[in-house]
Amino acid sequence: MKVVFLGGFGKAADVPEGTTLLEAASAARIETAADCGGRGTCGKCRVRVSGLVSAPSETERKHLTTSELEKNIRLACEARAVGECSVSFENEAVSSEILPFVSDYKQDPSVETNPLFPGKEPRYGVAIDIGTTSLNIRLVEVMSGKAAASAVAANPQRIRGADVATRINYTIENGGGLTELKVLVSERLSEMIEYLAKGRGLVTEDVNCAVVAGNPTMISIVMGLDPKGIAQAPYAPPFTGPVVVEASEMGLRLAPGSKAAVLPIISAYVGADTVGAALRVGLHKPGKPRLLIDLGTNAEIMLNTGKRLFCCSAAAGPAFEGAHIKHGMTARPGAIDRVDIDSGEVVLSTIGGAPPAGICGAGLLDTIAALLDAGMINSSGRLAAQGRDSLSGRIRETEDGPEFILVAKGERGAASDIVVTQKDVREVQLAKGAISAGARFLLEKGGVSPEDLGEVYLAG
Ligand code: FES
Repeated sequence: MKVVFLGGFGKAADVPEGTTLLEAASAARIETAADCGGRGTCGKCRVRVSGLVSAPSETERKHLTTSELEKNIRLACEARAVGECSVSFENEAVSSEILPFVSDYKQDPSVETNPLFPGKEPRYGVAIDIGTTSLNIRLVEVMSGKAAASAVAANPQRIRGADVATRINYTIENGGGLTELKVLVSERLSEMIEYLAKGRGLVTEDVNCAVVAGNPTMISIVMGLDPKGIAQAPYAPPFTGPVVVEASEMGLRLAPGSKAAVLPIISAYVGADTVGAALRVGLHKPGKPRLLIDLGTNAEIMLNTGKRLFCCSAAAGPAFEGAHIKHGMTARPGAIDRVDIDSGEVVLSTIGGAPPAGICGAGLLDTIAALLDAGMINSSGRLAAQGRDSLSGRIRETEDGPEFILVAKGERGAASDIVVTQKDVREVQLAKGAISAGARFLLEKGGVSPEDLGEVYLAG
């Protein structure tokens, strides 16, 4: 059966009859929001279809109104191709592209570069951060520590769920699920390495070492280790501490015999990514009390009391990465990333100056902060038409509560309205509440008062 994907993808998948549209999208290397991993509970995988697809299921009738079904809106994880059909996505969908990442990172002379693999002559290495949502890689000239190029891509595992718990469940409930998730991520990482090497006139054989960071679930999966202990009491990761393995064991295509060093995992929810951030800012070194907060789906928080290190993890949810947010998207071209309200007017910018397509985490935080300042959100988080008239006109009531129209259809080339809903505000409140609780807990545990803190480092 041929399933054609519309909306600028120019892609099609040839799949057996009865394949879900979500599986077909994955076969065409298109990743769309599937927060619940295709279990039919999140309602995020909305698509508009034409052609031959199965009749709406019970699950679809729960998530979609009759008028939506009449307009051929369907859930991609439920609707199945029964003949030739075409599909366009209602929510953010991305093709598996790799984007160059430009940063103003400069080698910090205080950071020592340490040949990790004595006996070899590493010329180029890659520093890899496997996030639940995004993958980041930096190609580094090993001996000088100079960054040669960087790239970012979406984590293709997102079709199996937005958060680590959903992905762990996927490995528990599906035989072969662990291998599938491992291959998804290691293939994408290898493609990114090839892309970076090519951009510098190199081949992957020129890259002969890797340092890998990531949360414990992502690290377990890429190493092919069963992550279920992370989700079940007593919440133990498959290993703790640092490890060095053959890069090929992770499915990474580097020079033959290359090694990959995984930064230490501390516990089921404090991983190698937090250790990387702590090392980068020297949190382990003596000095005044300092706090590090690594914002993400799980926010990891680490405190140096001046004498000891404490850390914890808080379930912030994926709001900062644009998931579970009505018009949320990851930080890609077209994502609204800066918002201000100036004399009652909304002033915003998008990544790459592209027409607004959605809101990323930074834009969402900006919007909520600006609405708070403008009095459109009260101290309890309630969104209501109050304060300035020009802004009040942007609030509309829906059956799901009030929403603020950040960009109206047609404004700056937007294809449809982009809104921040009451539920979106609640998601951010939940995230902020979780992080704040984690930070306070650590401070209490370490006997440090907020006023004693010399520095607070934010990463994300
Ligand atoms: Fe969650 Fe389809 S309902 S992915």
